[in-house]
Parts: sequence; structure tokens; C-alpha cells
Amino acid sequence: MPLLHTEDLTKEYQMGEVTVTALQKINLSVESGGFVAIMGPSGSGKSTLLHLLGGLDNPTSGEIYLNGEPLSKMADDELTKLRRRKIGFIFQFYNLIPTLTTIENVGLPLLIDGQSLQHHREHIAQLLKLVGLENRANHHPDQLSGGQQQRVAIARAFVNNPEIVLADEPTGNLDSNAGTAILGLLKRTCKEFQTTIIMVTHDARAASYADRVIFLKDGQIVHQIQNNGDRIAVDNLMAIMAHLEI
Ligand SMILES: Nc1ncnc2c1ncn2[C@@H]1O[C@H](COP(=O)(O)OP(=O)(O)OP(=O)(O)O)[C@@H](O)[C@H]1O
Ligand SMILES: [Mg+2]
Repeated sequence: MPLLHTEDLTKEYQMGEVTVTALQKINLSVESGGFVAIMGPSGSGKSTLLHLLGGLDNPTSGEIYLNGEPLSKMADDELTKLRRRKIGFIFQFYNLIPTLTTIENVGLPLLIDGQSLQHHREHIAQLLKLVGLENRANHHPDQLSGGQQQRVAIARAFVNNPEIVLADEPTGNLDSNAGTAILGLLKRTCKEFQTTIIMVTHDARAASYADRVIFLKDGQIVHQIQNNGDRIAVDNLMAIMAHLEI
């Protein structure tokens, strides 16, 4: 059984008289420990798909199954618990809390879950080291660069040892060295801890780290490729993007 699968997943937004179809009948299946990249033009539905997969928003129709269980049948408190304990989010715009320090922002999912940061000091320190922010532990977000804030968001996504990490452009604001380090980190956690990663990206180099790349256009899956070796060739991805006019 796949860890996560969707059946005709559809999301429409009603804007006055106009209906915007953000996702149209998406059928997607992700195995535990898989690393999936989602590519597509701006407005193609990538963020919408991540939000639905993480239970942050409800589909208009269709269903999402997690370990075979339909999310729509889960009670609200069950879904909330699932989000807090099993899923890590890296949002497109980081969503850091300005009044909290780096340590507190990283620990936020634990705080919200009613746990004390005191018990997790070492774990948080380890995560900060992994993302290269050990000497920014007591800074506030406005004292950090964009790329550093992004790395805080990445550390935060892993703080609850999630089964699934949903990442929206996790390397969008990083220079190529920091980006490579983060992608390597995502790939390693995916393989070592069987963490399932679903990552939205515009960048063919970032997508090349995934096991599978899904191309979205106008809310539909228009193409998929699977890697057969260690990495998907960046040239292949660029050729497909050009062909699909992404
Ligand atoms: N809350 C909303 N209300 C109305 N329309 C929305 C809403 N959120 C998204 N949309 C529309 O749904 C479509 C998909 O949006 P989405 O944010 O998923 O795109 P995206 O692929 O993530 O784009 P980008 O690469 O620019 O982040 C767009 O046409 C957008 O205008
Ligand atoms: Mg988006």
C-alpha cells in the first residue's frame, strides 16, 4: 500500500461568478521513503496540491488517503494531531514567527503540541548544526537573511521527526552552495530515516535529486519521470520543461 495516494483530487476556488480550477482530478501515489519533486509553471496548482496533501485545506472533490485512510473521514482533532506529529511543512514564504528566536521557531511544532523545548534542546541544536545556523540560535527572523530564514523553516520541518515532509521551494532563496547542502540533506534524511519528501521546485537542478518528478500544468499532471540511477539528468528535465513550456 502506498503511504499517500489521491483519487481524482480536485480543488476549485469560487471568485464571485468565476470558478478557478486549481487542481483537476489528480491521481498520485507516493511510497514511503520516496522523494518526489513537483514542477510546473506559476499558478499550475503546486502549492494547492501540497496544502491539500498536508490536510491544511479541503478538496472540492476527490480523496486523499494516508496509509489507506481517507483524510475526509478523519475527525478534526485527529487530523490536527496527524499534521503536528507526522507531517513537516516547509512553506513557500517560511511562515516564521517574528517575535520568536531561531530555537523557538524551530521548536514551534513541539510547543504547539504541548511539549517543552527543554527536553528537545539537543535535538534542536543538532538540526541547527545540520542547516548551518548553530551561531544564529538566539536571533529573531528580522535579524536573519532570507536564506537563513529558509534554513530555519527547513530545520523546523524536521523537528518532530515527521513521516512526510512537504516542501514548497525549499531552496528558492539559497545560493547554489547552500542549496546543494540542503538538497543533499533532504535526500539523506529521505534515505536514512525513510522520510517521504514531496518538494515543489522551479529548479531543474533541485528536482534532479528526486526519485520521481511530476509535471503539473493548469492543475493537471501532464508528465512524470522516474529516475533509474542515482540522479535524474538535469538536461533531461530542462528538455521536458522546454517541451511542456514550463
Ligand atoms: N485562495 C485562493 N482563492 C482563489 N484562487 C486561488 C487561491 N489560491 C490559489 N488560487 C488559484 O489557484 C491556482 C493555483 O495556485 P497555486 O498557488 O497552487 O499555484 P502554484 O503552482 O503554487 O504557483 P507559484 O509557482 O506561483 O507558487 C492559481 O490560478 C491561483 O490563482
Ligand atoms: Mg506556489
